[in-house]
Amino acid sequence: MPESRCLQGIWSSPWIFIFAASGSAVGLGNIWKFPYVLGQNGGGAFLLVYCLCLLLVGLPVLMAEVALGRTVRSNPIDTVNDLSERHILHSGWVFVPWLAGVTGFLILTFYSVIAGWSLAYLDRAVSGEFVGITQEAAYRMFDTLLATPAEMLLWHTIFMALVILTVGQSVTRGLSAVVKILLPVLVVTLILLASYSMLIGNSAEALNFMFRWSWQDVSFDVILAAVGLALFSLSVGMGAMFAYGAYMSKRMSIARACTIVVGVDLLVAILAGLVIFPLVFSFNIDVEAGPSLTFVSLPIIFGNLLGGQFFAGVFFVLLVVAALTSAISMLELFVAWLHERFSMTRLKAAVFMGIAVWFVGIAVLLSFNHWDNKLLLGLNVFELLDSMTSLVLLPVGAILLSIMVAWFIPHSMLQNEMITKQANHFQWWYKTLKFISIPAMVVITLAGWIGG
Ligand code: TRP
Repeated sequence: MPESRCLQGIWSSPWIFIFAASGSAVGLGNIWKFPYVLGQNGGGAFLLVYCLCLLLVGLPVLMAEVALGRTVRSNPIDTVNDLSERHILHSGWVFVPWLAGVTGFLILTFYSVIAGWSLAYLDRAVSGEFVGITQEAAYRMFDTLLATPAEMLLWHTIFMALVILTVGQSVTRGLSAVVKILLPVLVVTLILLASYSMLIGNSAEALNFMFRWSWQDVSFDVILAAVGLALFSLSVGMGAMFAYGAYMSKRMSIARACTIVVGVDLLVAILAGLVIFPLVFSFNIDVEAGPSLTFVSLPIIFGNLLGGQFFAGVFFVLLVVAALTSAISMLELFVAWLHERFSMTRLKAAVFMGIAVWFVGIAVLLSFNHWDNKLLLGLNVFELLDSMTSLVLLPVGAILLSIMVAWFIPHSMLQNEMITKQANHFQWWYKTLKFISIPAMVVITLAGWIGG
C-alpha cells in the first residue's frame, strides 16, 4: 500500500506523527519551565546534563511508549488488561497506566493555570500594555495578575474549555495540521526574538551562563531536575505518546521519528533560553526567580521592540496554541479509556474529566494568593504539584513503564515493531533502555530524593 494512502485511522505520512508528537512535546515546558529550571539549577552544567538525559533517558523511553502504542493500538489501561488476560503480563501491571493517567491529570491542573497566564498576557499584549514597559512595571504586571484570582480563574476556565472541546472532538489529526504551521512559525519567531534580545541584552553573560559548565555545579538534585524536565518536556513517563504511537504507520522508523521530536523539543527550549537570559542579565532580573522568570522578561522584550505589540500578539497566540496541543495529550488517556471501555462519547468523557481538572486547578490558582500556605515540605499547592509530578510521578512512571516494556513484554512482540529498514536500531534501543536508562533513572531518582 502506498505510504500516501491512509489506512483506517492510521496516519499515512510519517510527518503527521512527527508533527503531532512534537505538538505534545513543545509547549509551556520549553518556553516557561525550561528557562526557570535552568536558572534555578545553575545554567551550563544543567544544560549539559539535560542533553544527556534527553538522549539516554528521554529518547529510549519515548521510543518504548511509541512502540508499545503502535503494537497494540488501544489505550494504555485496556492494553495492560488485555496483555494480562492473554497471560503475557501479571494483572498488577495495570497499576502503571492508572498512575500514568493520574499523573497527566495532576500536571494539567497547574498547566492550565499557567496557560491561563499566557492568555492573560495575550490580552495585555494586544491592548498595548507592554509598550515602553519598565522593569518595575513588568514585575508589577505579573504580581497584579497573581493577586487577582478572579482573572486567573477566567483564563483558566477559558483554557480548560478549549481543552475539553478539542479532546472531545477527537481532532488530534486536524491538530497535527495546525502544528505543521505552528512549529515553523514558532521557531522563526523565537529566532528573531533571540537575535533581538542578544542585541539589546547582555548576550556575553547569557551565553556564559547557558553554555559554560564545571563539574562542581553538578549534584544529584541538579541531575534529578534534569531528568524530570527531560521527561516533562518530551511528554514522556505517563503514556501520552502511547496514543500517538497507536496512529503511526507500521512502515515508519520509530527511532528516526522520535529522534526528530527530541531535536525539535531541544531546539525550541534553547531558543527560549536565548530569548530570555540576555535580558535577565542586562535588567538584573533574578535568574533564580522561578516560575515568574519568563513572564517578567517577555514584556520587556516586546515593550522595547519596534512593532512589539504585533510580535507580542503573535507570540502569545503561538504559546497558547502550543500549550493546547500539549494539554490535550494529558487528558487523552482517561478520555480514550472512558470512550473505548464504557462507550461514553468522547465529548462527555472530556467534559467529565475536564471539570475535575478545572476544579483542582482552582486550588492551584489560589495558592498564588489567598492560599499561599505551605502545605507540606514548605511547599504550597502549586509547588507541590509541580515538583511532585516532575520529580516523583514522571520518573517513577517512566521507570515502571520501561521495566514493563524492557523486561516483561516479550522481546519478539517489540522486535517486530522496531525493525524497519535498519534492524540494528532495535538492539541499540533495547540495550540502552535495559542497561542505561532504567538503572540511571533508578539511581538518579533515589539519590535525588535522599540528597534533596
Ligand atoms: N511536554 C509538554 C510541554 O513541554 C507538557 C506535556 C504534555 C506533558 N503532555 C505531557 C508532560 C505528558 C508530561 C506528561 O509543555
